[in-house]
Amino acid sequence: MQNFTFYNPTKLIFGKGQLDQLQHEIPQYGKKVLVVYGGGSIKRNGLYDKVMEQLKELGAEVFELSGVEPNPRISTVRKGVDICKNEGIDFLLAVGGGSVIDCTKAIAAGAKYDGDAWDLVTKKAFASEALPFGTVLTLAATGSEMNAGSVITNWETNEKYGWGSPVTFPKFSILDPVNTFTVPRNQTVYGIVDMMSHVLEHYFHLEENTDFQDRMCESLLITIMETAPKLLEDLESYEHRATILYSGTMALNGILNMGYRGDWATHNIEHAVSAVYDIPHGGGLAILFPNWMKHNLKVKPERFKKLAVRVFNVDPAGKTDEEAALEGIDRLREFWNSIGAPSRLADYDIDSSKLELMADKATVNGEFGNFAKLNHDDVMAIYRASL
Ligand code: NZQ
Ligand code: ZN
Repeated sequence: MQNFTFYNPTKLIFGKGQLDQLQHEIPQYGKKVLVVYGGGSIKRNGLYDKVMEQLKELGAEVFELSGVEPNPRISTVRKGVDICKNEGIDFLLAVGGGSVIDCTKAIAAGAKYDGDAWDLVTKKAFASEALPFGTVLTLAATGSEMNAGSVITNWETNEKYGWGSPVTFPKFSILDPVNTFTVPRNQTVYGIVDMMSHVLEHYFHLEENTDFQDRMCESLLITIMETAPKLLEDLESYEHRATILYSGTMALNGILNMGYRGDWATHNIEHAVSAVYDIPHGGGLAILFPNWMKHNLKVKPERFKKLAVRVFNVDPAGKTDEEAALEGIDRLREFWNSIGAPSRLADYDIDSSKLELMADKATVNGEFGNFAKLNHDDVMAIYRASL
């Protein structure tokens, strides 16, 4: 285990009816509140009205930025930054999924930065200050509600990058499973794949003596896999929505990965795909992750075997590590297929014409991946296997 410092200042407020906690959380930050939201789901399911009621009760002066896209754009971030600077906004409230939260993080930091917010995303500049912001999460997936990361796309240049800073943790996040009842089946599946992929990214590391961390990762994967089919049978089950919502947060809030660094190459490879084709992040991961696994099996077969045996119930008797590992990877693919996730780039009408371009984007900063270093050829091989 490596030395580590754990830091996560986000206050997590979980459960039914917790929206009224806005009354206690917002006043300390000021009166001028910018509410950031997406394409309208919160208007259709009534959450918008409830949030506005709370803000009215607080006597807040409310500003709005709507229309944040899935795979949020830097152009939308810039609009938000302008509102903050022109109106002297005190506090931002993100109401939505990972895209809305990520966009809010970039606006919050961009509002305190003199140049263009894209500099922060591309790490040309470091965000050392940000406006305070909170979130009301509506979709279980990214973990953005309790981490400092943000992923922003520049549609003019087809670039999509993750960035973050200690100042971009939400001050608080309100997670009411009821607010996720209306997430459609396909988005529910993408979210499940995304949170499982976060755990898998952690799991593939080269550090020794991480028994407890391994067990936490394994138990989270098992819990998600046991719950997912039940949730998909009943999308308005409070119990199952709650389990999945909590799982998504735990998968990427820093608690699982103390003392080691996970791989994270598959996320980079996926971001290059969704930068060019604008596909859902979780859909891309479902296609790519098993192929990343097969490509890197030989780096440490016993790690893949451990996952196969402990999480996918593979019987290792009479099998080599590689055979057991491959069976585990096949079972992961089968599970994702069984819940309706895509398995080939062709499912999104992606053919071989832009593979080189995507591989160029994935390797723009050279080789990457902490478990296995990938170069351009490796990325091309994984894309080809995913066609
Ligand atoms: O825009 P609206 O109308 O709100 O609809 C959204 C959107 O169309 C809809 N939705 C959200 N909550 C809903 C709902 N529909 C009905 N009822 C609800 N309660 O779902 C669609 C997808 O929303 P989005 O926010 O894009 O999904 P997600 O949370 O999966 O976020 C994806 C983005 O997060 C990034 C991804 O790359 C992608 O850009 N990631 C962010 C991470 C982070 N900050 O830590 C890590 C992740 O690995 C990921 O890369
Ligand atoms: Zn992800």
